[in-house]
Amino acid sequence: MIGWVHKVEVQKTIKDPTTAEDVVEEFRDFAAIYDQEVSGENLQGRTIHYPAPARLTKLFLSAAKLKAGDRCLDVATGTGILTQKIKERRSHIHMTGVDISPEMLEQARAKQLLDEIEVVNAEKGLPFATGAFKAVVTCGVFEFIQNERRLVNEMARVTAPGGYLAIAALKSDVLDDIQIPGFTRLGYEEGIGYDIRDAESIEQSDYIFAVYQKNGPA
Ligand SMILES: C[S@@+](CC[C@H](N)C(=O)[O-])C[C@H]1O[C@@H](n2cnc3c(N)ncnc32)[C@H](O)[C@@H]1O
Repeated sequence: MIGWVHKVEVQKTIKDPTTAEDVVEEFRDFAAIYDQEVSGENLQGRTIHYPAPARLTKLFLSAAKLKAGDRCLDVATGTGILTQKIKERRSHIHMTGVDISPEMLEQARAKQLLDEIEVVNAEKGLPFATGAFKAVVTCGVFEFIQNERRLVNEMARVTAPGGYLAIAALKSDVLDDIQIPGFTRLGYEEGIGYDIRDAESIEQSDYIFAVYQKNGPA
């Protein structure tokens, strides 16, 4: 968690040249304790609140009309927290999860919420056909991505016409108030993505939450 937070702080001003190997390494050991860390429990004098997945889910599902069997891709699903929030409210959605970290995906797999799981470096592209998903969602990955616009374009590509794209991400020059060609924005909010409290300090992160619909017949 410390590593993640450190990166977030740095990347508010300058992009940290994190490599894919660094990310995999960082989440290798973190995977087993990730859910407990972000659960709001007081761990060794520190408490982390991570409202971003629940907030994005609320915004996403209030805008998106989804029916049984619709395919949804969770990019950088991690341990599957965002997928879990979505499945709690729409249990009939077919969920695919991709992430660069095999260890994070193993935690997600154990929850048995995802129908398909694949190890993918999303920076290099998403290994799915154009328009393959009725919805594409992501939470908390852009701070690890060097070319944010490219990942947005890739997520846009695999979204079906009439489908939805939902993003929760640390505020950045690229993502603030972002417009996506060929998409109509259905909702946009800014707010706290997570906060970390200890005896001396409270550290908050500013996130954007956005939901779009791809133009064209559903
Ligand atoms: C802060 S966690 C967020 C996980 C989950 N979405 C959540 O909200 O709990 C960031 C995740 O992004 C993944 N990640 C970072 N860079 C990635 C990349 N290039 N491709 C795919 N996943 C990546 C990490 O492995 C990690 O699981």
